[in-house]
Amino acid sequence: MTWNMPKHILLDTDPGIDDSLAILLALASPEIILDGISAVHGNASTNQTTRNTLAILEMAKGSHVPVYKGCDLPLVKESLLSPETHGDTGLGYAKLPGPQTQPRAGHGSDFLIESIMSQPGEVTLVAIGPLTNVALAIRKEPRIVKNVKEAFVMGGAIQHAGNTTALAEFNTFVDPHAAHIVFHSGMPITLTPLDVTYQCIFTVDDLNRLLKIASPITKFIADSTRFYMEFHDEYQKIDGCVINDPMTLALTFMPEICDYQNLAVDVDISTGVGLGNTFADFYNYEKKPANMRVALGVRPRMFMELFLERMEKLAKSIS
Ligand code: BDR
Ligand code: CA
Repeated sequence: MTWNMPKHILLDTDPGIDDSLAILLALASPEIILDGISAVHGNASTNQTTRNTLAILEMAKGSHVPVYKGCDLPLVKESLLSPETHGDTGLGYAKLPGPQTQPRAGHGSDFLIESIMSQPGEVTLVAIGPLTNVALAIRKEPRIVKNVKEAFVMGGAIQHAGNTTALAEFNTFVDPHAAHIVFHSGMPITLTPLDVTYQCIFTVDDLNRLLKIASPITKFIADSTRFYMEFHDEYQKIDGCVINDPMTLALTFMPEICDYQNLAVDVDISTGVGLGNTFADFYNYEKKPANMRVALGVRPRMFMELFLERMEKLAKSIS
C-alpha cells in the first residue's frame, strides 16, 4: 500500500452491530480522519442509533468526533427496523453506559452539506445505512454531488440473493426511494453489495483471537457479535457473521481488497415483489453510461486480517 494523506471521512450510519465495527475501524485507522458522523434510522430508530454512536465513540475514546442526528423515517415508505438482526437496542447483547456527550445541534443532512461544500473535492462520504440522509442532502443542496470527492455506499445485492426480501438487501429495501435519488445523482459512487460482503465472515475463531486482549473493545465486539452470529445461524445458516459495514469503510484506504466493474445500476421503486432490488445492466442493453463502480470480487482474508489487526491495536490502547 502506498502512503497517501489521510482521507477526510463523513460517516452516515445506523449502528447497528456492523456499523459499530465500522466506527471502531475508522478510529483505529491512521489513513482516516473521521470528520463527523450523521446517524440515520435503519437497524434501530434514529434516537437509538444516535445514542449508540455516542456510546461507541465514548468507549473508544473518540468523543471528539461530532455526531448529528438525521432522518428518523424513510422518504416514502413506512419505517422498518431490524431488532431480529441487531437486537432491540441495535447492539446485540452489548450494554454500553449511557453516553455523557450529546449530539450536536442541527440535522445530519445539513451537516453533510456543510462539510462537503466547505471543503470542495476534499471529503469522502461513507454511507452504511439506508440512504435517507444522503438523498435529503442531495435534494436540499444538489451541488454536493459534484463537490464530494467520492462516496462509498454499502447496499444492494447485484447478483446475490437479498437479505431482507428474496430480492432486496436491507439498506436499499428500507429506503429504496432514497437509494434511487443517490444512485442517479451523478455522485462518484463505489458500491459494496452483498455479493462481496457475504464473503467476509467474522468467525468465532476471529473473535477468540481478539479476546486474547482484555479490553472494553473486545468485550463489546464479543457481546454484540454473539447476537449477530445467532441471527446468521438461525436465519441464514452462516457460521459467524457478515461484517458488511467495516468492509465498506476499509475500501476507502485499501481499495485492493476488491475488484470492481463500472456499471449502470438501478433500484426497483415499483410496488411489486422487487421493491428495493438492485440490478446492473451487465450487457449494456439500455446503452446508459455507468453510474457507479461496483465491487464484485473480494479478497476476504485481506480484509479480515486488516480488521483484526486494527481491532487488536485499538483494544491494546484502551483497557
Ligand atoms: C446492511 O444492513 C444492516 O443490517 C447492516 O448494518 C448493513 O449496513 C446489510 O444488508
Ligand atoms: Ca448499517
